[in-house]
Amino acid sequence: MKIAVVGTGHVGLVTAATLARIGHVVVGFDDDRSKVDRLLAGKSPFYEPGLQELLDEASASGRLTFTHDPQGAIRDAEVAFICVGTPSRPDGDVNLLAVERAAGTIGENAIRDMVVVEKSTVPVQTADRVKTILQRTGRHRFSVVSNPEFLREGSAVADSLHPVRILVGANDDEAHRVMRDLYEPLIRDSVVYHATDISTAELAKHACNAFLALKVSFANALARICEASGADVVAVADIMGSDPRIGRAFLDAGLGYGGYCFPKDLAAFRTQATRLGYDFRLLDEIVRINDQALESTFAKIKEAMWNLEDKRIVLLGLSFKPGTDDVRESPPLRLAHLLVEAGARVIGYDPRAGANAKAEVADLEIFDDPYAAAEGAHCLVVCTEWPEFAELDLVKLKGILTNPIVVDARNLFDPEVMAGAGFTYIPVGRPTVNL
Ligand code: UGA
Repeated sequence: MKIAVVGTGHVGLVTAATLARIGHVVVGFDDDRSKVDRLLAGKSPFYEPGLQELLDEASASGRLTFTHDPQGAIRDAEVAFICVGTPSRPDGDVNLLAVERAAGTIGENAIRDMVVVEKSTVPVQTADRVKTILQRTGRHRFSVVSNPEFLREGSAVADSLHPVRILVGANDDEAHRVMRDLYEPLIRDSVVYHATDISTAELAKHACNAFLALKVSFANALARICEASGADVVAVADIMGSDPRIGRAFLDAGLGYGGYCFPKDLAAFRTQATRLGYDFRLLDEIVRINDQALESTFAKIKEAMWNLEDKRIVLLGLSFKPGTDDVRESPPLRLAHLLVEAGARVIGYDPRAGANAKAEVADLEIFDDPYAAAEGAHCLVVCTEWPEFAELDLVKLKGILTNPIVVDARNLFDPEVMAGAGFTYIPVGRPTVNL
């Protein structure tokens, strides 16, 4: 099938490369010329495990090209994917201008009937608007489909090539048939293929992200109670997770959730629910608990340091989660801001996200080696659970820190090992090891 993908961000680029891999002929369109030039030079604009290889393979096959010429992108396409950003407005409502523009671009440049796929995360009923724009700008028949994406940053390529589920919302049988054909190479016994109506698909995506954020906040609320009572939140989560009705995933307490998706999607879902006449206050509580998780970590550092002025605090991990260089809505960077405001000298190390972090927090001093970053620090804070941090040489680390104090905001280390290595160890929702 001939496919246009409008928007080459995390979702658009991975989608384009995956569709090319499974045999479709794909043109990725972006109005950001520098991004397209980078892609034409064969380079991924961001780090995602396995993406560069997938792009190399897709380009070599001749099935994936990029352009900033809208006509060239849309002209031959039978199916066009809208994969543009849907950021928050200051009031929390979602800004759908890029979706409107993408629909306009497709409508204006279409020279045949097309299926237009809304892949960006959008509030329920957005497809009606997309359809209106397509009809207003184009002269052909457009079927709008909602096909929300469930890939996670850090494992986007694997998630895209081996999806757990595929969700397609359409209001006509022909559009459903086209989408089923398009995804046929990915459909295996293990894949749940949901074919439903458009509104259900749109709503399901927000429901999934909100529920996952709810689990994270539930774990963080438990962590506060565990800290006050002496219980261990990791053990509580393990016990809860052994019930298949609950599941262990997304019950890791820590610094809270961040990233491009959860914060904006919760705000958008909240606003849309209100607009539809439902006061979804549970979502406010999820956000409040998430903010509290960050504040709690800040308070632990402050308590351990007494005065933060002139203290050298090293943050290990700056991206919003492991496996990515993405620092959008990154809890570690929010923590860095709080520490800088309190007068601390903040040092950062991240396997991938150092440069992006520096661009966001100018006062952050970035090192490209964890030991160099830790040298002379009064407190080491684990902010992102990159697996390589678990391999650090604890003896060496203890020798170079000014104070052997570790605040483990992701419960990465084993408390007994940290005690054995001679650290004052302050985890999340489990007893502190005091030396
Ligand atoms: C999330 C969803 O998991 C994807 O299914 C969805 O496609 C994507 O949003 C999106 O809407 O585009 P992502 O934001 O990449 O994916 O990352 P997650 O793995 O969901 O993690 C989100 C945040 O929750 C991270 O900051 C992570 O550190 C935090 N988290 C996650 C916890 O604090 N505890 C947990 O137990 C799990």
